[in-house]
Amino acid sequence: MKKIIIGNFKMNTTPSEFKSYAMALATKTKGTKNDVIVCPPYTHLGTAKQILAGSHIYYGAQNISEEESGAFTGEISASMIKDLGAEYVIVGHSERRGKFKENDKVVNKKIKTALANGLKVILCVGENLQTRTNKQAAMFVKKQLDDDLKGIYENELESVIIAYEPIWAIGTGKNVTVTEIHKMTDLIRKEIEYLYSEKAGRGINIVYGGSVGLTNYKKLLSNDFLNGVMIGNICLEIDNFTLICRENY
Ligand code: 13P
Repeated sequence: MKKIIIGNFKMNTTPSEFKSYAMALATKTKGTKNDVIVCPPYTHLGTAKQILAGSHIYYGAQNISEEESGAFTGEISASMIKDLGAEYVIVGHSERRGKFKENDKVVNKKIKTALANGLKVILCVGENLQTRTNKQAAMFVKKQLDDDLKGIYENELESVIIAYEPIWAIGTGKNVTVTEIHKMTDLIRKEIEYLYSEKAGRGINIVYGGSVGLTNYKKLLSNDFLNGVMIGNICLEIDNFTLICRENY
C-alpha cells in the first residue's frame, strides 16, 4: 500500500548540503511507490526547484506567513514558496506553536492562506505530556482540529494531511505504542466525520510523527489506519531515510 513519507529538516543543513542530499535522494528512491515529501528550510527551496521539480519527490516549506504580502519584515509568503515550486507547507508544527507562540487562530489563517495559494497543507496536531498524563489528549486534539479547520470546506480536505505528532515523542526517542496511535487516528477520523462527513473521515490522510526511525517504521507503516509518517532527525540520515522511502508497505 502506498504511504506518505515526509522528511521535516527543521533548521538543519546548508543549501549546499541539501543540494547533494536532494540529488542523492532522487536517484536512490527512483521507482518507489510511496509519496516522498521533503520540507527543508526556505533557503533551500530554490535548489529544490532545480533538482526536484519534475522528479517523483515532492517538496514543501516548514512554515508560511498568514499574510499575503506587505510590511512584514522577515516573513515569507505562500505565493513566494509556490513560485519556487513548493507543493506543500507544514502548518502548526508544535515547535512553532510552542516556541513561536502560534495559536489556533494563526494556524487557521495560515491554512486558509496556503490553500488560497494552491499549496497543500500538512497540519500538525498533538498534545504535550502533561495533557496526556491528565487524560485530556483526546479533548485537546479534537479542539485543535475544530479551531484549525474552521471555515475550511470539505472539498479542500483533499489538500490537507493531518500529522499527529505528540509533543512528548518528538526528538525524545520515546515510542508511542501502535495502539495509542490507532486510538488517536480513530479519534481524528471521527472528528473529521463530525465536522464534515463520513466520507471525509474515511478519506483524510493521517500521518504520525515523533521519533520515527529504523526500529519502529515498519511496525507503524504496516497498519492501514495510518497513511504515512513524518520524520525529523532520521530524515537527515540519507541512507536511513531512503530505506524508509523505498520499502513496499
Ligand atoms: P523526530 O523524528 O526528530 O522526533 O521529529 C518529529 C517531527 O517533529 C517531525 O515533524
